[in-house]
Amino acid sequence: MSGGVGGGGGRPGRARRGGSTGRPADARGAPAGGPTGSRSRPDARWQAFAPGRVNLIGEHTDYNGLPVFPIAIDRGVRIDFRVTNDGAVRLDSPVARFDPFAFQLKRPIEAAGQGDWSNYVRAAARGLLEHGVRLERGIEGTVTGDVPIAAGLSSSSALVVASALALLKANGTTLPRLELAALMARAERFVGLEGGGMDQAACLHGREGHALRIEFEPLRVTPVAVPEGWRWVVASSLVRAEKSAGAREAYNERARQCREALGGVGGGGGADHGRTRAAGGVGARRGAVSDSAARDARGDATTERPAYRDLVAEGNLDDLLRRARRVLAPVLFRRFRHVVTEGRRVALAEAAMRDGDMRRFGDLMVRSHESLRDDYEVSTDELDAIVEVALGAGAAGARLTGAGFGGCAVVLCDHRTVAPVMEAVAARFYAPRLGRPPTGEEMFAVRAGGGAGVGERGANDGRGRVPS
Ligand code: GLA
Repeated sequence: MSGGVGGGGGRPGRARRGGSTGRPADARGAPAGGPTGSRSRPDARWQAFAPGRVNLIGEHTDYNGLPVFPIAIDRGVRIDFRVTNDGAVRLDSPVARFDPFAFQLKRPIEAAGQGDWSNYVRAAARGLLEHGVRLERGIEGTVTGDVPIAAGLSSSSALVVASALALLKANGTTLPRLELAALMARAERFVGLEGGGMDQAACLHGREGHALRIEFEPLRVTPVAVPEGWRWVVASSLVRAEKSAGAREAYNERARQCREALGGVGGGGGADHGRTRAAGGVGARRGAVSDSAARDARGDATTERPAYRDLVAEGNLDDLLRRARRVLAPVLFRRFRHVVTEGRRVALAEAAMRDGDMRRFGDLMVRSHESLRDDYEVSTDELDAIVEVALGAGAAGARLTGAGFGGCAVVLCDHRTVAPVMEAVAARFYAPRLGRPPTGEEMFAVRAGGGAGVGERGANDGRGRVPS
C-alpha cells in the first residue's frame, strides 16, 4: 500500500476551513437532521426520498467537464407531505435550528438569508418554474433524514432533489432523470456554489451495489458493479464544510483558478477563458442536458478553445504538464495538475473496479488524496490524519470525499478489515479529540444504494426507497 499520506511538514498549504468547531459534524439529517426515519405526520400521504452520495474518486473534476465516480448511499433525506391547493410550500423539521418556513410558488422566488435551509427548497422550485414546469399545487410536510450535514455527503443536493420530486408529484408531472439532474445542478447554484453536476446526478441515478461513472457535456451515467466483499467506511473529520458558508468561497475560488489555468494552457490566459466549457458541464440553457448544445445555441466565441476533456484526451499527460508548467503561475499549475491527473485516475479506477482489482482502486484513491492535499489544497490536518490511520490499519485506500475543507473521508476496506480499521480510527483519531468513541453519525459503513424517488408513503419499502 502506498504510504506518504498525512506525513506532515513542508506542504504547500492547508485548506481554509469552513468554520472549524472541533465538534462533531452535527447530527444526522440533511438540513433535516433529527431522528432516523419519518416523523409521524398522519396527513402526509406522500413521501419523497433522495439519497446522499459518497464520491469514490474524481474530486473537483465535474465543474471542469471531467468524469466523477461516486455511489449513492443508503442514507438520505425524506419529505413526508400532502398536496395543497394554495400554491404554497410549507415545510418543517424536527430539528430545532431548522425553523419552519413557507413561500409561494410564484416567480420570482426570492432567496432567504444566507445559510437558511429553505434556500435549497426554493432553489428546486425556482429551477422547475424557470424550466417552464407549471407548479399550481404546493406541498406541506416535514423533512427528516439521516445523512450528516455539512459533511461532504451531499445532504443539500438530496434536499433539492427530494423537493423537486415532491413538487413534480404534487403537480402530477415528471421529468426524465437526466434532465432533472442537469436542471437541479443549475438550480442549486442559486445557493451560491458554482458546483458541478455530480451530486444531483448521483442522487437521481443511484443503483444498489453499483458505483456510477458520471460524464458531462452531455450528462451520462453508467453504473459499474462493485465487486463482492468490499466496503466503504465514512469517517467525519469533525470539521463542518458548509456549502452555503465559508467553504463556498474557497470552492468558487478553485473553480475560477481552473478556468484561468485552462485559458492559459489552451492558448488564452485570461481569467474567463474556457469558462463556457469548464463551468459545470451540465447545461446552461433551459432544458439543455448538454453544455455543448447551450454553447452552440449562443454561438459562443469560446467554442474553439479546448476543454479539459480535450486536453486529457490528447494523450501524453507528461507533455501536457510540461507545457502547463511553462505557461502557468505555480498555484495555477498545481490546480491544473490536480484536475488532469484526477481525470486520468477516474478512468483507471473504473477499469480497476471492472477488473475486480480493488487494491489498485485503493491505490488510486490514495493518489487522489495526495493530489487534493498538495495540489488542490482542499484537505485538512484532520482528513489527512484519518487517511493515515486507516491506511496504517490495513485499509486498501482512503481519501477525502466531496469538496474538502472539512467534511468526511471515505475508506475502502475488504470485509475482513472493516472492523480493525474502524477500531483504529476510533482509538487514534476520535478518542483523543472527543474523549469517547465516535457515534454512528461520525463513523459508519455505507453501501451503494438506490436513487431518489417519490410515491405513496405506504409503498415505502422500509429503507426509504419509494417508486419513482
Ligand atoms: C461539491 C460539489 C460537487 C463537486 C464536489 C467536488 O460536492 O457540489 O459538484 O464539485 O464538491 O468534487
